[in-house]
Amino acid sequence: MQTIQFPGAHSALDPAGPQATAIKAWLWDPMYAAAVVTFVLVVAALLWAAFRRRPSGEPSTDLRHERGLTRAVGAATVVTVLVIFAVLILDGVVGHASTGAPANALRVTVTGHQWWWEVVYPGHSADEVATTANEIHVPVGRPVVIELRSTDVIHSLWVPSLGPKRDLIPGRTNTLRLQADRAGVYRGQCAEFCGAQHAKMAFTVVAEPPARFAEWLSNQRASPAPPADSLSQRGQQVFLNGSCPLCHAVAGTRAGGNIGPDLSHFASRSTIAAGTRPNTLGNLSGWIVDPQSMKPGTKMPPNELSPADLHALTTYLESLR
Ligand code: CUA
Repeated sequence: MQTIQFPGAHSALDPAGPQATAIKAWLWDPMYAAAVVTFVLVVAALLWAAFRRRPSGEPSTDLRHERGLTRAVGAATVVTVLVIFAVLILDGVVGHASTGAPANALRVTVTGHQWWWEVVYPGHSADEVATTANEIHVPVGRPVVIELRSTDVIHSLWVPSLGPKRDLIPGRTNTLRLQADRAGVYRGQCAEFCGAQHAKMAFTVVAEPPARFAEWLSNQRASPAPPADSLSQRGQQVFLNGSCPLCHAVAGTRAGGNIGPDLSHFASRSTIAAGTRPNTLGNLSGWIVDPQSMKPGTKMPPNELSPADLHALTTYLESLR
């Protein structure tokens, strides 16, 4: 089996924004320190108990000694409860950093599907709305408030380098506040078991300078350029005359399906099938012909196409920038 190098940083220990930094500074580091101290004390107590000298034979009847042990156990219990309360308070502090919506926040809606992410940048009119999938672009240094929804089961959005997990629950809207202070590509992953392909429900967060983000967003809002060469034109016919438009949309054409990802700017995305494979002609061809072998259980059906039609179709899709 071929291993796939997925693009993007993916570590809660290398935070790239205020929410992830708060988690590391206020939860990870203190809990790790508490665990190390507890481990050392417990091992020391164990060694002391195992190797201390004691008169052989008779069990201890020393009352003072018994009282000392009772006090030690009592003190350890009190310290444990205090540590747990401290973690509870820190958890509240950190949770506060990842909620709320500052006035300058960018708003994005992410809807969980089995097994992909629908990403919508809302706008005041239809031309201002941008719809994409499995890739969230954000401007560096600006808070992002993500509205989380689900159409089927409970999913959980998690970008370890940027912040905490939050669930996407059917019939409910949760919000998550994230911010990337460093430009880069960050990997995100569904963090709640949601069916057979839960592991293949990944996405990328692309954090870029505000000017580049604005350029990306205005491109995503526009319809893609119509196919320029005859091969892509043939590919568009294969797309529109096949079963593709029943599930997929391409802005500016009559394809308006909303069961699968919007393909208007498909070629601008770095992966296919929610982070399952890099977005290349070869992977795309394999996916279209036999998606079930790449991601068993996916809603995408197999497509029997002649080699010429498949070549035209993939050329068309890879021209949608
Ligand atoms: Cu969606 Cu796990």
